Amino acid sequence: MFLTKKLSSSISKAILSTAKRTNTLRRPLSDDKPTINTSQDFIHLQEKNSQHDFPHVWLRDNCQCEKCFHVESKSRIINWKYFDVNTKPSDVQLTKDNIEIKWDDGHLSTFNLKWLHERSFNKSDRKNYTENVYKLKKKQWSKNQFDSIFKKFKYDCLINENEELKRWLESLSIYGVALVTDVPSSSDSCRRLASRVEFIKRTHYGEEFEVKAKPGTTNVAYLASNLQLHTDLPYYEYKPGTNLLHCITQSNSSGGENLLCDGLHVADQIRRNKPANYQMLTDVQVEWEDYGEEDGNKFHSMYRSPVICLDKNGDVARINYSTPQRGSHLDVSVDGVKPWYESLKIFTDLIHEESAHYKMSEGEMLCFDNRRLLHGRTEYSDTDQNVRRVIGAYVDWDFINSRLRVLNNK
Ligand code: OGA
Ligand code: ZN
Ligand code: ZN
Repeated sequence: MFLTKKLSSSISKAILSTAKRTNTLRRPLSDDKPTINTSQDFIHLQEKNSQHDFPHVWLRDNCQCEKCFHVESKSRIINWKYFDVNTKPSDVQLTKDNIEIKWDDGHLSTFNLKWLHERSFNKSDRKNYTENVYKLKKKQWSKNQFDSIFKKFKYDCLINENEELKRWLESLSIYGVALVTDVPSSSDSCRRLASRVEFIKRTHYGEEFEVKAKPGTTNVAYLASNLQLHTDLPYYEYKPGTNLLHCITQSNSSGGENLLCDGLHVADQIRRNKPANYQMLTDVQVEWEDYGEEDGNKFHSMYRSPVICLDKNGDVARINYSTPQRGSHLDVSVDGVKPWYESLKIFTDLIHEESAHYKMSEGEMLCFDNRRLLHGRTEYSDTDQNVRRVIGAYVDWDFINSRLRVLNNK
């Protein structure tokens, strides 16, 4: 069956006996027709302007036949207990759309060329996939650029139109902030929007939480005083990814404005201009802590993590910052304490310089990346007739990224 399928194709083929295992690339039959070749560990696909190398071991591992891959679940089912990492092809053929391989144990694999291109190991192809499919590449912004990156989306359109939902999630991913307008004043508006993505991330403050001045609160956010720049819940290992803040009633006083700062931009400034301080902010583990009670439930949360957390590429993965929730234990040698405080001060000065102000109107919902942006709120005062009231909820990046990929696949 394998041979019949190959021979029946009317396209030109480069048939190659891999017994020779030569490194010499076959000359293309014509300028724009691809050819293939194998070497000790690779199959080389030579095209007019590019070459793609696919390791034998990777090809065998990713065989798409029904014995190796379950199509319905899009899952590898090859039994890895018996996998041979030294497997080699004994015959390789190129057809118009596929590379067909006979392995040394007789197993047959067919790889679609488009499928292979999407998985190219070339650096630029991997970068393209990483920044457009895996996760969207973030673009940092300064305070002066805030007005141009702060995009607005109508609530109804997000609920009803997938294209608009996609644009909103793209804005959130790329810039870390977006505004939703014309939001119905009911207290489940965050929930309805979150369910367009997936679902709300619950914390010890509940699924939705109500931000307003509350007597006897154990959380400083529930005071009407100035709420310093911060990220929410730095004391959670699984800190929520994004915040939705729906303004139901805004304060008529001059306060109640939100501050927003791109932590990515600030980190980048410190990395360039103050590398020693950057090192401390990325190295020293701070103990973040929340201690209190909500609806009769007592909690004491703690998580140790630097102010600027880097991933293995050296990119900022998460910012932690909240003065009220910064614990007093610091796990550094005593000589490292003052230099770390100096670094924290540099970070603090810069986030204040780089903060944009926005006062939500009633019926608006401010959405931002809680792992990247710092946010705050200016002091306000309530009256009997005017009690500021905001409903908040969190949605995780796992679900936003998942929704974006699903929407892009439609
Ligand atoms: C919070 C918060 C902002 C606001 O509750 O953590 O940031 O506008 N609130 O009240
Ligand atoms: Zn197979
Ligand atoms: Zn907050």
